[in-house]
Amino acid sequence: MDTRILKIDAERPDPEKIGEAARVIRSGGLAAFPTETVYGLGGNALDPEAARRIYAAKGRPSDNPLIVHIAEREELPPLVRTVPPAAVRLMENYWPGPMTLIFPKSDRVPYPTTGGLDTVAGRMPSHPAARALIRAAGVPIAAPSANLSGRPSPTRAEHVIEDLSGRIDVILDAGAVGIGVESTIVDLTGPVPSLLRPGFISEEMLSDLLGEVSVDAASTGPMSPDAHPKAPGMKYRHYAPRAQMTLVRGGAQAAAGMICRLAEEALLSGKKVGILASFETAPGYEDRLAGTDVSLRPLAPRDDSEAAARGLFDCLRAFDSRGADVIFSEVFEEGQLGGAVMNRLRKAAGYRILEAGEDGPG
Ligand code: TXA
Ligand code: MG
Repeated sequence: MDTRILKIDAERPDPEKIGEAARVIRSGGLAAFPTETVYGLGGNALDPEAARRIYAAKGRPSDNPLIVHIAEREELPPLVRTVPPAAVRLMENYWPGPMTLIFPKSDRVPYPTTGGLDTVAGRMPSHPAARALIRAAGVPIAAPSANLSGRPSPTRAEHVIEDLSGRIDVILDAGAVGIGVESTIVDLTGPVPSLLRPGFISEEMLSDLLGEVSVDAASTGPMSPDAHPKAPGMKYRHYAPRAQMTLVRGGAQAAAGMICRLAEEALLSGKKVGILASFETAPGYEDRLAGTDVSLRPLAPRDDSEAAARGLFDCLRAFDSRGADVIFSEVFEEGQLGGAVMNRLRKAAGYRILEAGEDGPG
């Protein structure tokens, strides 16, 4: 299949190109498009065949449900059985935006879209191109992240091309996305709202609005193979680079020191090494590891989780392209996106975390 790549302006997407992608979706095909979080791989959410094509293109297990994207609030009620008061509060505050809500599904949503579940994930993105596409398609759009299953989510059209070129009809290219990690997912089908996946809308922002919020275990720790997390996607090894990754927590100098020692050991045993550094520590690695072929990627200042979120998946993909066998990474825990960034880093590292301790005086 020939994949057409259509460049569009992120703020003012060309209606002709949006129209072309919309026609693809209406006729049962697949179009990748930008959202404010990551790129999505869209198909008609009401067409079971389109859902099957999405799973096939991604190489994704078909029990992993898709998020249904809408452009207006009025498009939600036909897709769900009830809209609880907590959902209304969240939607009033955070839609359109990077937040996905789980509802009991109506009969209009086919089971292939929800991976066989009786619930449906609904999201109203804020990206102008995403909204224009949904409007032009005239149907809700089912869209997982537009990566091959198991690879880091795409934050630029180049990532989508790398994974899905030849497997889908169209890619709308609006450049790099703004947030860089996937939407926050909140399940509203139980007695207490439950955070299934942290994102730009943080746990604190949810509990400020709703009071009690529970946090699904799958969003914080490793899953046993026979576990049934609320978000089925959380059980798969996700956001993963091909290399084995280790996180090192602690003071900037202590962490960098430990990472240098680990990197030197790995180099001695003939491995290709990647280091995900902070802006503060990057010069130190350059000095100490000068002359080696370590691939060093300064991601963000240590306390800037917004910047870390924007660049994270791009860095993980770059390590893959360089053929890294092992990656050592510092942590980025501060700020509104700290929880979301650490969730992705922990998963990518398979929960391998070392403690380097605090920095000594001076
Ligand atoms: O930011 C995002 O959410 C992006 C953009 C494209 O909107 N989409 C995205 O989709 O990240 P995906 O398929 O990569 O991740 C969706 C997650 C999966 O972990 C899936 O299991 C969960 O949402 N999910 C979808 N429907 C669900 C449902 N009915 N109940 C529980 N979890 C659900
Ligand atoms: Mg995904």
